[in-house]
Amino acid sequence: MEPGNSGVSLALIVFLCFFCLDFGAAVDTITASRSIRDPESIISRGNAFKLGFFSPGNSSNRYVGIWYNVASEDVIWVANRNKPINGASGVITISDDGSLVVLNEQREVLWSSNVSNSVANASAQLLDSGNLVLYDNNNGSIWESFDEPTNTFMRRMKLTTNVRTGENVMLTSWKSPSDPSIGSFSARLNLLNIPQVFTWNNNIPFWRSGQWNGREFIGITNINSAYLGGFELVEDNKNGTASLSFEFAIDPMIHFVLDSEGRLEQKNRVDGKEEWQIRRMYPQNECDIYRRCGSFGRCDVMKKPICSCLRGFEPKNTEEWNGGNWTNGCVRRASLQCDSVNKTGDAGKEDGFLKFGMMKLPDFAERTTAIEDRCKELCLSNCSCIAYAYDAGIGCMSWRDNLTDVEQFYSKGTNFYIRVANSELAADKKDMKVVIIVPVVVGAVLISVSAFFLRRWMAKRKAMKEKSSLLRREDRGRNISDENKSKDKLQDLPLFDFEKLATATKDFHLMNKLGEGGFGPVYKGILEDGQEIAVKRLSKASGQGIEEFMNEVMVISKLQHRNLVRLLGCCIDGEEKMLIYEFMPNKSLDAFLFG
Ligand SMILES: *[C@@H]1O[C@H](CO)[C@@H](O)[C@H](O)[C@H]1NC(C)=O
Ligand SMILES: *[C@@H]1O[C@H](CO)[C@@H](O)[C@H](O)[C@H]1NC(C)=O
Ligand SMILES: *[C@@H]1O[C@H](CO)[C@@H](O)[C@H](O)[C@H]1NC(C)=O
Ligand SMILES: *[C@@H]1O[C@H](CO)[C@@H](O)[C@H](O)[C@H]1NC(C)=O
Ligand SMILES: *[C@@H]1O[C@H](CO)[C@@H](O)[C@H](O)[C@H]1NC(C)=O
Ligand SMILES: *[C@@H]1O[C@H](CO)[C@@H](O)[C@H](O)[C@H]1NC(C)=O
Ligand SMILES: *[C@@H]1O[C@H](CO)[C@@H](O)[C@H](O)[C@H]1NC(C)=O
Ligand SMILES: *[C@@H]1O[C@H](CO)[C@@H](O)[C@H](O)[C@H]1NC(C)=O
Ligand SMILES: *[C@@H]1O[C@H](CO)[C@@H](O)[C@H](O)[C@H]1NC(C)=O
Repeated sequence: MEPGNSGVSLALIVFLCFFCLDFGAAVDTITASRSIRDPESIISRGNAFKLGFFSPGNSSNRYVGIWYNVASEDVIWVANRNKPINGASGVITISDDGSLVVLNEQREVLWSSNVSNSVANASAQLLDSGNLVLYDNNNGSIWESFDEPTNTFMRRMKLTTNVRTGENVMLTSWKSPSDPSIGSFSARLNLLNIPQVFTWNNNIPFWRSGQWNGREFIGITNINSAYLGGFELVEDNKNGTASLSFEFAIDPMIHFVLDSEGRLEQKNRVDGKEEWQIRRMYPQNECDIYRRCGSFGRCDVMKKPICSCLRGFEPKNTEEWNGGNWTNGCVRRASLQCDSVNKTGDAGKEDGFLKFGMMKLPDFAERTTAIEDRCKELCLSNCSCIAYAYDAGIGCMSWRDNLTDVEQFYSKGTNFYIRVANSELAADKKDMKVVIIVPVVVGAVLISVSAFFLRRWMAKRKAMKEKSSLLRREDRGRNISDENKSKDKLQDLPLFDFEKLATATKDFHLMNKLGEGGFGPVYKGILEDGQEIAVKRLSKASGQGIEEFMNEVMVISKLQHRNLVRLLGCCIDGEEKMLIYEFMPNKSLDAFLFG
């Protein structure tokens, strides 16, 4: 071999090695010598996440962000959110002191991870969790993007609050879908008395999760029990911190986004598609908005108007209240024995408690050490106590001063007891009589009338059905008697009114959607009587005609005997075909409806 040639081969080997390094382990890492220039990017080792430059919405500004490495981009973190890069000249690199920095064309620092002690040979790696970690040369983590979240709460991320220093790791919304700079909403963990998650609109509370009971937030009703245990709250009394994290084994892609309107959205991956679906949203209705009905007011989405005073209370300003301005809330109608100086006559009789079932408990609960049986007693014996409630995970809670942000739930919720004057207890009993008797009479009349018409209508329908050829079909191995049975089955089944189902599911609102099955979406609904239902709305595209519909009804009627899931009825309204099931908040229903 000639000397010149060996020099060339050596250069070639060195060159190739450089390449193999570059294409081997290094695509997920940024170092001082390996910067990323717009439009370059790095991808985490398992291809889950990408870090690079992007322009959100209609903006032409460039930002450095991390997003899911799937077709529909979903940005989970932004570095230079308050200082965009003009034009495609941005660079991400490691500065001399070891900070991760975003530079513009003039090499001005637009964003820095700000490491306190300068380190040599630092490198930043994008992990498959979506976390961007800055390492020193000993592999020690010196900074993580998960410690500085933007608007997205990811699995394994921790929202932390330190009561002593007041420091928070929190979510902050974007200004708009086209502008990731810090908007007016934030979401953080509040540790006053009992931990709760709050979203804030600047300095005003916007929504509250309700109290943490060790397993779940009791002011959130629509989390399926299949998800239970998904959140974890770790309190550390030594340094006064608590941190919230989550892990949903059933869907590791679940994440939460605080959008620019202040809604905390739970996003799921649509099965088998590269698309995101907003599965849940908080606040989910008007009543979830903090203090919607003022002090001592109660919000009920099923009522019109949604605000009413708690029993025993009346509007502070009747005119305002009736005009729909509920900010001033309600005040006590009859003063408590506790509060009155003159303890003779009616005012001298001992106060009592009115029970409110299925409530979102008010804010400012105080935890006491009392056991359940002593909870009432303890409250009664203390004039500062105006209400109490008990939750097995929290214990006995009491309230003083005012009751704020009270909501009527229709599933879950907690029993809640409010202290009132003795005279209110008597009034309440009278009210209750009216409340019970009137509906019972009206109900009985209605039922007999509708039963009469239903029978007539059914008879008519039966006659029509017999004529109709819809039910006739090629024999599929089933004998005639089976078919007759199925017809009978369908006629035994209660028919639901389309309007009622629409009301129950809030017009088949996206937020009520439990999921998508083979034949169409399934919605959760609440009937007027408070019963929870699951409505399977058979899509027109499903190709499920009357025949398949009947088959399904039959299969389910059989299953009903095994107590798997109870079919309550069906609904046929023009093109619309729906099945109504008893709502079962667990996996077996999921498996049955979607599986
Ligand atoms: C982009 O601009 C169009 C028209 O001005 C507007 O309708 C749309 O909402 C904008 N999109 C975003 C994400 O801001
Ligand atoms: C880094 O420090 C600078 C100057 O103190 C500050 O303006 C900037 O917000 C800090 N960046 C981060 C990400 O904390
Ligand atoms: C940094 O890396 C260079 C080249 O890889 C090496 O020579 C140097 O010793 C490293 N410095 C430290 C402090 O590890
Ligand atoms: C750094 O940590 C990773 C994984 O924990 C390991 O694979 C790698 O060998 C470590 N590198 C050094 C220099 O310690
Ligand atoms: C508080 O202490 C725990 C463990 O003792 C530790 O993991 C955590 O990082 C500490 N938090 C702060 C803010 O010091
Ligand atoms: C409701 O009443 C409050 C206090 O009286 C007042 O400040 C507020 O402007 C009113 N809101 C509306 C929408 O009228
Ligand atoms: C206390 O109340 C009773 C009846 O309610 C009344 O007759 C009496 O005058 C009151 N006493 C005082 C001191 O107000
Ligand atoms: C009465 O209740 C308040 C608040 O609920 C509490 O601060 C106070 O210590 C209680 N007083 C007694 C005597 O238990
Ligand atoms: C309700 O009580 C809380 C806690 O005691 C207090 O911070 C708040 O200002 C009160 N609100 C009203 C309207 O009285």
